Amino acid sequence: MGLTVLIVGGGGREHALAWKIAQSPQVDKLFCAPGNAGIAEVAECVSVAPEDIQSLKSFAVKNRIDLTVVGPEVPLSLGIADIFEKEGLNIFGPSQRASLLESSKIFAKEIMREHGIPTADFAQFINPAAAKAYVKNKNCPLVIKADGLAAGKGVFPAQTTAEALAAIDRIMLQHEFGDAGTAVVVEDFLTGEEASFICFTDGITIIPLPSSQDHKRVFDDDEGPNTGGMGAYSPAPVITPQLEAIIMRTIMYPLMQALNARGIPFKGALYAGLMIEDGCPRVLEFNVRFGDPETQPLIFRLKTDLVDILQAITRGRLADVAIAWDPRPSVCVVMAAGGYPGNYVKGLPIAGLAEASRIPEAFVFHAGTALKDGQVVSAGGRVLGVTARGNTIAEAITTVYQAVDKIHWDGVHFRRDIAYRAINR
Ligand code: AMP
Ligand code: GLY
Repeated sequence: MGLTVLIVGGGGREHALAWKIAQSPQVDKLFCAPGNAGIAEVAECVSVAPEDIQSLKSFAVKNRIDLTVVGPEVPLSLGIADIFEKEGLNIFGPSQRASLLESSKIFAKEIMREHGIPTADFAQFINPAAAKAYVKNKNCPLVIKADGLAAGKGVFPAQTTAEALAAIDRIMLQHEFGDAGTAVVVEDFLTGEEASFICFTDGITIIPLPSSQDHKRVFDDDEGPNTGGMGAYSPAPVITPQLEAIIMRTIMYPLMQALNARGIPFKGALYAGLMIEDGCPRVLEFNVRFGDPETQPLIFRLKTDLVDILQAITRGRLADVAIAWDPRPSVCVVMAAGGYPGNYVKGLPIAGLAEASRIPEAFVFHAGTALKDGQVVSAGGRVLGVTARGNTIAEAITTVYQAVDKIHWDGVHFRRDIAYRAINR
């Protein structure tokens, strides 16, 4: 009998995971909660929200799920891994305590400070007046961050003291992020080039995935507000083999040791968002899951059966698997709804998906999509993650935009310059 697998989530990252897991000869049946229109082509979508842990648990018990794979951070921060394991269910994703690395910026910063892991200097406050007094005594630029989860929106770079004070008001007095803003972190502003560094780990062995780079700003040339990510590519040439060794030695191994010393082994995908300046990596944030959209180009390059890797991690046997990657670069361009990252409408029919899927070496991962009367319609801010590979990064870029240019809906927008940093090198 083959395996029954459940994926939790319904974005582009989860479509990439589902697409790859569905290719595993070990898998008989694949479910996804809640999934999307693209995921529905490879999995049975179940309409349960990723935050509804009790319903997910009942579903997993009833359907004899052999492996649950968690995409987003919220269910992890709610303790889905602990609750499933208590029930005897096999699950890929860290415990609630290990997830504090992402769900509490103060927790992450304190671990880094204690263990000498390079990151921006910081101070933390639960009292808004104290935060403001501190900011008035510091030179800008600074970065003000809500302590808790805020879907990437709780981070405010401040060029002036007035902006820093306004950010503290929004987080701590206007409670824009609810409880996530009970405490703030005030950080020194780092400059350099950002990169995403993701590792597989079972708490004993830690193995880096190839490097990748996200594009957070909504417009070309990194203009406009931050988003969940407008595109990604892998590998990111800023991370040379020498730099990868430095990142492992100064960040990832010390972090693993620090977690183990606290009795919090980490099982899952451990993601360090880095700022790199003059060959020196510093941590901006940790995430306790795969990146979105970084997962799309990364999974496109993974040759090994993903189920082998995930199972090895849940069993604490990651050292036993050899992981192989396609050397060809991959690029993912996010196509977003008009207005995103601000307000946008849903339910618009998407044209050209079949034409795009005929472009060789390209694939359209769905993010916010749904099926309405047999037609794929938009159902979120980030709607599609068109992904392609090539023998060179330039070739991958040409192919990905060929596919992107086949697709259209009312108000769609996307960046034209994804992976420009790789080209400029
Ligand atoms: P975070 O969610 O903490 O990674 O922050 C989101 C984005 O804000 C990062 O990807 C950076 O672009 C920016 N950022 C965060 N912290 C800093 C910092 N200390 N200095 C400069 N930019 C930062
Ligand atoms: N791409 C950034 C993230 O997944 O948090």
